[in-house]
Amino acid sequence: MNIGIDKIGFYVPPFVLDMEDLAVARQVEPAKYTIGIGQSKMAVAPITQDIVSMAANAASMILTQEDKEAIDMVLFGTETGIDQSKSAAVYMQSLLGLSNRIRCVELKHACYGATAALQLAKAHVALNPEAKVLVIASDVAKYGLQSGGEPTQGAGAVAILVAKDPHVLTIDQETSLFSDDVMDFWRPNDCPYPCVDGKFSNEQYMRFFAEVWQDYRDRFNSQLSDFAAVCFHLPYSKMGLKAFKPFLAEEEEELSARLLERYQISTQYNRQIGNVYTGSLFVGFVSLLENCQELTANDKIGFFSYGSGAVGEFFTGHLVEDYEKYLYTDNHQALLANRKPLSVKEYEQIFMDMVDESTSDQDFSDRQDASLVTLRGIKDQKRI
Ligand code: HMG
Repeated sequence: MNIGIDKIGFYVPPFVLDMEDLAVARQVEPAKYTIGIGQSKMAVAPITQDIVSMAANAASMILTQEDKEAIDMVLFGTETGIDQSKSAAVYMQSLLGLSNRIRCVELKHACYGATAALQLAKAHVALNPEAKVLVIASDVAKYGLQSGGEPTQGAGAVAILVAKDPHVLTIDQETSLFSDDVMDFWRPNDCPYPCVDGKFSNEQYMRFFAEVWQDYRDRFNSQLSDFAAVCFHLPYSKMGLKAFKPFLAEEEEELSARLLERYQISTQYNRQIGNVYTGSLFVGFVSLLENCQELTANDKIGFFSYGSGAVGEFFTGHLVEDYEKYLYTDNHQALLANRKPLSVKEYEQIFMDMVDESTSDQDFSDRQDASLVTLRGIKDQKRI
C-alpha cells in the first residue's frame, strides 16, 4: 500500500524582522547573517500566536470537512510546549472540529519530533487503511535577545495530512536512524531559552548526516544520482549545505550542480522565516515543491531530519503524479508577502511581552492579528 503525504501546508505569524536591521543593531556585518548564516528575514510570533494557534492556522488551510471526518489521530511534534501535561494535540480536536473519537498526543525530541510523528502516522495508516492522521510541527524558536543564536530564531507551524494513496509524496519503507546522547542543545524545565553549544551543534549535525546517509547508501545500495533533490532540517539555510558539501564534492559536476541548485530552492522559504525547529525540514520540502519547476512524478526525494540531543534520520519518498495540483503556493506566498515588518525595537518589545506571558491573567483581544485562530488571553492559567 502507498502511504504518505496527502496534503502539506504551513503558517507563519504576521510579523517579520529584516536580518540586515538586526545585524546593524547588534553591530555585526550584515553579510554574516545574510551570507554566512544565510538568513534574510526572521518570522516573529506575537503574543497572539503560540504553538497551538499556529498549528490550527496551518491545519485550517489544508483540511476539508471530509478530511476532518476521516482523521482518527493527531500527532503534534514540538519542542516549545506550552504545558507539561496536557498535549497541544488535543486543542486541535476543538479548534478544528474533529471527532471526539480520536487519539491526540504530543511528541518531543527537539527538531526530530515531527519526523517521528510522520513515521508513526505512516505505521498507523498501514494498519488502518481508511484512517487519516494529522501530523503537526509547530514551534517558536527563541535563544534570547543578543544571544549567539539570536539570528537563527523563527516561528511557524506545518500541518501534514498522512493517508493511503497520497496526492503529494509516498514515503518509502527504507530509512536510516542514528541516536547518540550528546549535549549540543537542550532546555531544562526552568530555562526560558535553550542552552546551546553552537559550534558543537553544527559538528553534531554534520556527523549525524554522514552517519545516516552513509548507512542508507550502503544498506540500500543507493547513490546520490538516484535523487532528484535532498531536503534538510534547516536551523539556518546554510547548515544543510555544510553537511551536504563533502558528499557533493565526490560527485560529477553536473549532478552536484543540480542537487546544489535544488538545495538552494528548498531553502527559499526558510531564508525568509528562520528556524521553525520541528517544521524546518518540511518548510524546506514545501519550498522545493512550490519553487522548483523541474521536478516530475516519481522523482525520489531524500530527507535528513536532525533533532539535537540527538536523533538523526534519513528517509525517502517519491513524488506522486499531479502533486503540483495539491499545493498551497498562493496561500504560502501571500502569508510571507503580507507580514508586517518590525523595527528592532518593536521586535524586542514583542520578545519581552512573550517573556512576561507566564502566569497572571492577560487579555490580548485588542492586539492586531488578523489570523483565523489567535490566542486571545490567559485566564486562571487557561489559554483562550
Ligand atoms: P556564530 O559564532 O555567531 O557565527 O554562530 P560564526 O562565527 O560561526 O559565523 C557563521 C558563519 O558566518 C561562518 O561561516 C562565518 O565564516 C560567516 P562558516 O564558516 O560556518 O561557513 N561569516 C561571514 N560571512 C560573510 N560575511 C561576513 C561574515 N562574518 C562571518 N562578514 C551559530 C553561528 C549558528 C553557531 C549560532 O547562531 C548558534 O548557536 N545558533 C543556534 C544553534 C544552531 O542553529 N545549530 C545548528 C545545528 S544543531 C540543529 O540544527 C538543531 C536545532 O535546530 C535545535 C533542535 O534540534 O531542536 C538548533
